[in-house]
Amino acid sequence: MVDVLIIGSGGAGLSLALKLAEHDISIAVLSKFALTEGSTYYAQGGISAVFDVEDSLESHIEDTLNAGVGLCDPEIVRLAVTYGKNSINWLREQGVAFTEETVKSGETKLHLTREGGHSHRRVVHAADATGKAVSLSLIERARQHPGITLFEHHNVVELITSHASETDRTAAKRAVGAYVLDTKAQQVKTFTARVVVLATGGASKVYLYSTNPQSATGDGIALAWRVGCRVSNMEFMQFHPTCLYHPHAGSFLITEAVRGEGGRLILPDGTPFMHNFDPRGELAPRDIVARAIDHEIKKSGIDCVYLDISHKPAEFIKEHFPTIYEKCLKFDIDITRQPIPVVPAAHYTCGGVITDSFARTDINNLYAIGEVACTGLHGANRMASNSLLECLVFADRAKEDILHNIGTIATPPTIRDWDESQVSDSDEEVVVSHNWDELRRFMWDYVGIVRTNKRLERALHRMELLKQEINEYYGNFRVTGDLLELRNLVIVAELIIRCAQLRKESRGLHYTLDYPDLDTSKAPQNTILTPITSQR
Ligand code: FAD
Ligand code: SIN
Repeated sequence: MVDVLIIGSGGAGLSLALKLAEHDISIAVLSKFALTEGSTYYAQGGISAVFDVEDSLESHIEDTLNAGVGLCDPEIVRLAVTYGKNSINWLREQGVAFTEETVKSGETKLHLTREGGHSHRRVVHAADATGKAVSLSLIERARQHPGITLFEHHNVVELITSHASETDRTAAKRAVGAYVLDTKAQQVKTFTARVVVLATGGASKVYLYSTNPQSATGDGIALAWRVGCRVSNMEFMQFHPTCLYHPHAGSFLITEAVRGEGGRLILPDGTPFMHNFDPRGELAPRDIVARAIDHEIKKSGIDCVYLDISHKPAEFIKEHFPTIYEKCLKFDIDITRQPIPVVPAAHYTCGGVITDSFARTDINNLYAIGEVACTGLHGANRMASNSLLECLVFADRAKEDILHNIGTIATPPTIRDWDESQVSDSDEEVVVSHNWDELRRFMWDYVGIVRTNKRLERALHRMELLKQEINEYYGNFRVTGDLLELRNLVIVAELIIRCAQLRKESRGLHYTLDYPDLDTSKAPQNTILTPITSQR
């Protein structure tokens, strides 16, 4: 038994672990793969915070609210933005070396870059590999801390609540631990804790093309849903406009900071097009840029568009975007001289498990922080670089609440071990890989950047067939990592489709040809789904 079980070793999970460990609390952190394997490690652009003297908290708040198209919670936005500077300072104390510049007075300051939707330079970064710098520093600190035990390759199968214990079914449901597949030992273990925290990241792997690593299969959303937590705004899946288009590149992001520093989007014949869609051009919010690219690709039947930064001095490009320069060079694209072929790809889950301002979910002692949560910060569209900020802010808020309550939380009841007596080894693993492909492809084709009623109906139908097959498979065979992810992904797909069907308008990241405009007849509303098992 530990005091706090944190599921996830990204920016959110490790920040919380380090912040709690200062207070003599025992902590276990689980990571599905290696500790680095989450979106945090791959973050490029940076973290938004107000440092520039020309900038202000009010401006950051206004830009965030504008990007969120009426659905951000203004109090949460203010809370998060106000924490910006502290969050960056805390990361610097953990050893993160952000890019600096020397100004005319000879003084050294943080270099601030710019991204879509921001009306000022306010993105603190470590060249074009901010996430790597953050992730490696936090991991190093966590490894050194005696109060934190790290479990790599431990994949959560199911959360355990107090209702799993025969003697504890009458009181309100509370989280008491998790069943966890140790994927190296191929054994399901029982972890118990006073407090459980979901820091499992997003769900963009539900789409065929995504900028996210393998871990982003929405496990935390599915786990929380299955124990009775409400989920919100899943229709707002964000597509990043610029993912490198090359058959061997996998999913490699070209940071929005390239556009922030003057990169232009052009068609194959060199014609710029963004100003036909929005007066802010390349720096319009992401939903607008991704839709514009999708439109141009479909209209002209081209494979990709191009992002051109080659008009900037080569030294500037290599200094600001060393990772992208090297990566593209491997594919014979010299970005100091040539434009970069790009396409949109699924990038960020704006919706998720509903939490309050202290990261509390609907289930007692179960918290959710980072991309898995729907806090109200992003509304219908997240502004660039507000996500890592959210991880840090809500790690801090959860810490405050956990410290306040931990002394009064009872030890978990005795939990029976995982029962594998009724299942056997799978005879046809191909079912899992086939269903993975099918799910991700129909989500891309029918629930992607542009939706229609008909496409959503088709997707729902296919999802239901798959869900039945997957559940049957799960009931009969021993669990594997792939099967667990697939079982979670099909729930995530269902939540996205159902939320999208409920929204009878186009707003932010949700665009449908059947209702192409904002519904201004009533106040903007979040989409909220409540599971049948809800215990609130
Ligand atoms: P993650 O960092 O994704 O970590 C999730 C953790 O949960 C992992 O350790 C994973 O193994 C673990 N996990 C998941 N499921 C399970 C399970 N079942 N059992 C056990 N462990 C599990 N945002 C910005 O603000 N600025 C940027 O510049 C930026 N750039 C980005 C670039 C890329 C390529 C990507 C993909 C995202 C970017 N984002 C950026 C978004 C941002 O990186 C993420 O939203 C953020 O890092 C999420 O952090 P997290 O801690 O919530 O989750
Ligand atoms: C990027 O660098 O373009 C990604 C930034 C983000 O997702 O916030």
